[in-house]
Amino acid sequence: MTAVTGGFGPLLPEERADAATLVRQGFGIPREYFDRSVELFGPDVMRGLRAGPEAGRAGGLVACAAVWPMDHWFGGRPVPSCGVAAVAVDPAERGRGYGSALMRGLLEEARAGGAALSVLYPATLPLYTRLGFGRGGVSFDWSAPPAVLSAGPPPGDGWIRRTEASDASPLAALRRSLLSTTNGLVERNEGLWSFALCPDGVPSDVYTFGGSGGPEGYVAVAPPADRKLHVADLCLISPRAVRMAQGFLAGYRAQVDRVTWRGGPDDPLVLLAPERGVRADACDEWLLRILDVPRALESRGYPPRVVGELVLDVSDALIPENSGCFRLCLSEGRAAVRRLPRARNSAEKAGGKTDGAVLSLSIAALASLYSGHKGPHALRQVGLLRGGDEALALAALFFSGPAPWMPDRF
Ligand SMILES: CC(C)(COP(=O)(O)OP(=O)(O)OC[C@H]1O[C@@H](n2cnc3c(N)ncnc32)[C@H](O)[C@@H]1OP(=O)(O)O)[C@@H](O)C(=O)NCCC(=O)NCCS
Repeated sequence: MTAVTGGFGPLLPEERADAATLVRQGFGIPREYFDRSVELFGPDVMRGLRAGPEAGRAGGLVACAAVWPMDHWFGGRPVPSCGVAAVAVDPAERGRGYGSALMRGLLEEARAGGAALSVLYPATLPLYTRLGFGRGGVSFDWSAPPAVLSAGPPPGDGWIRRTEASDASPLAALRRSLLSTTNGLVERNEGLWSFALCPDGVPSDVYTFGGSGGPEGYVAVAPPADRKLHVADLCLISPRAVRMAQGFLAGYRAQVDRVTWRGGPDDPLVLLAPERGVRADACDEWLLRILDVPRALESRGYPPRVVGELVLDVSDALIPENSGCFRLCLSEGRAAVRRLPRARNSAEKAGGKTDGAVLSLSIAALASLYSGHKGPHALRQVGLLRGGDEALALAALFFSGPAPWMPDRF
């Protein structure tokens, strides 16, 4: 691959039209949608890469991407992260290393800015796996005939109300309890809320469910079309809210043949469906990149009563500071991480006292372990991790928790 030397940095106002063309060619996204997204996420969200002297058009924009800071929740705690979207290279310049150069630039910038993680949905894997991204979690597209969701009359002690969707703060308050009890959800900024409640720019209608103690959940539904009802967003934090949502969605059975929604593997509507017919139409995997090993490990939460020590021997070809041995000590749901000096590393690995509790893995495999998407035994089985049974048993405990998922797509 040709080494590229072009300049990476914030997108300049005069480059916006060119970036819109790259994104249109990359994703088929029309100019209005591009402009709306940039406005929602803020004008400083876009990054660009200009061609270097190796190209015939030095200085011209050849690649762009959107990046924004956000908190990504693992183990009940927020981890500073960088969302990446709309990675697009000029179709006339693909396969020359510009996509990789752009990604290297923005990962370096995000790390320097304090992000411990980066997350994206890949359209292609090799580009990102070579840069140290690993499989981080899933996003399911579920669907069912509405009648399949019906579980009889809704609970008599509950209420349902249509809610003004322009103010997402009451919805964010409901969603907060989910952030801390599942893995992989991101704290939404205004842009992500708008994507969630107005997919494709069409506003959905929000209905909130609750009881005497206040709201317990909501569903945001797009207008029914083509005999389908799309639930743009939902959050159901109590059994009563799930029962009420079931009855609410089943109420569309004369109008639509299927209800669709996004969720995780333990989706409440799937878990409580009283009849067969719920289908996983798609399962997308998102990728996670650990940008800063100690910061990532110390920011997330862990099971509260697990205590122990583990040495992680990490290899990272892109970020040298992440390579080496890190001692991870866990107690009271938090981790303390210390980098081990190199000489001590080899002594320990050659048979020292911590030999039984050393795990060797790439930065990409660490991402899958860290998020809880893949357990250490599954990673060892396919050769992505090396370690003894004692170390694996500890790692399985350290990183145990709900399977990571995220409904937001970007
Ligand atoms: C995917 C994309 C960003 C890659 O940019 P690029 O400048 O061609 O990438 P690089 O030259 O740095 O190549 C890195 C690797 O990406 C992969 N790749 C390159 N072009 C690709 C393409 N058109 N489709 C799929 N994978 C591709 C290859 O594995 C390549 O490795 P190689 O050198 O061994 O062939 C570019 O093809 C593009 O803009 N595609 C359309 C939009 C898109 O899919 N974006 C990704 C969204 S997550």
